[in-house]
Amino acid sequence: MIQLFQQSDWQKNWLEAVKSEKIIGFVPTMGALHEGHLDLIRASNKQSDITVVSIFVNPTQFNNSEDYLNYPDTLNEDLERLRQEKVNFIYIPSAKEIYKESPLLSISFGHLESILEGAFRPGHFNGVGIVVSKLFNLIRPHYAFFGQKDLQQVGIIKKLITDLSFNIKLVVVPTRRESDGLAMSSRNLRLSPQERESAALLFHCLSNAKKELIAGKSWFEIHNKTLDDFKKNPLARLEYFNLVHPESFECYQEFDASQKSSICVACYIGNIRLIDNLPIIS
Ligand code: PAJ
Repeated sequence: MIQLFQQSDWQKNWLEAVKSEKIIGFVPTMGALHEGHLDLIRASNKQSDITVVSIFVNPTQFNNSEDYLNYPDTLNEDLERLRQEKVNFIYIPSAKEIYKESPLLSISFGHLESILEGAFRPGHFNGVGIVVSKLFNLIRPHYAFFGQKDLQQVGIIKKLITDLSFNIKLVVVPTRRESDGLAMSSRNLRLSPQERESAALLFHCLSNAKKELIAGKSWFEIHNKTLDDFKKNPLARLEYFNLVHPESFECYQEFDASQKSSICVACYIGNIRLIDNLPIIS
């Protein structure tokens, strides 16, 4: 049976679960669930006795109100998918429940704020840090499952867990893609058919760049050619296409096969902002 929780119910039921020493896995989401989210849930179901999924479109992490107001809402389908995955604990709080008062506290993630997503979405990581801390405190999971799709989010959650001493193990799940390589994302639902076709450009450029790097072409050349490829598509507006260290997010000017690296990309397709990344050396 599916149980939908209010905060007070959750705490009561959580106490029961802890008393029986159950392993709790937690998958935080903003809903509009797709197979990528379900991979996180399946990983949690494997590793935990109880999987808790939260659905909360967190207003404080949106730096663009249009993006927040138009965030896809597919609650009935989400509940049906969760039922099929045998998730019994679903937490769907209201904004009032999570933000009884608007927080005075803000969290800064230092240099991570000024690069990639940090640079292009001011305040975003503060909002993620606050809401994830609240959810961790309410749910108190043993494991938390996050997607590699949001690589820099993984980086800030690692810091959150370490810096605030949350006793939670972070599990990172690989990116689920559509057949043309586009990373699954709730925002894909908002793409027109023509935009959806153009959106394949992100993965196309990531995988081409990887091939060329491995073949020995310089990052300088690859980067310039990629900027041209994005410019040629009238629906695309590139924000960044960077070769970075996947944990420190330091940007590389040159490829070095002895160092860990990933390519991170952010690009508007029409009005929809998409991000993706591809590990080069892990
Ligand atoms: P949301 O975008 O709903 O994503 C929820 C989780 O699913 C995140 O950990 C994200 O990285 C993962 N995910 C998204 N697309 C994926 C894909 N194609 N393959 C694998 N995993 C994928 O990320 C958020 O929500 C929010 O910032 C949140 C953490 C819930 C805080 O509000």
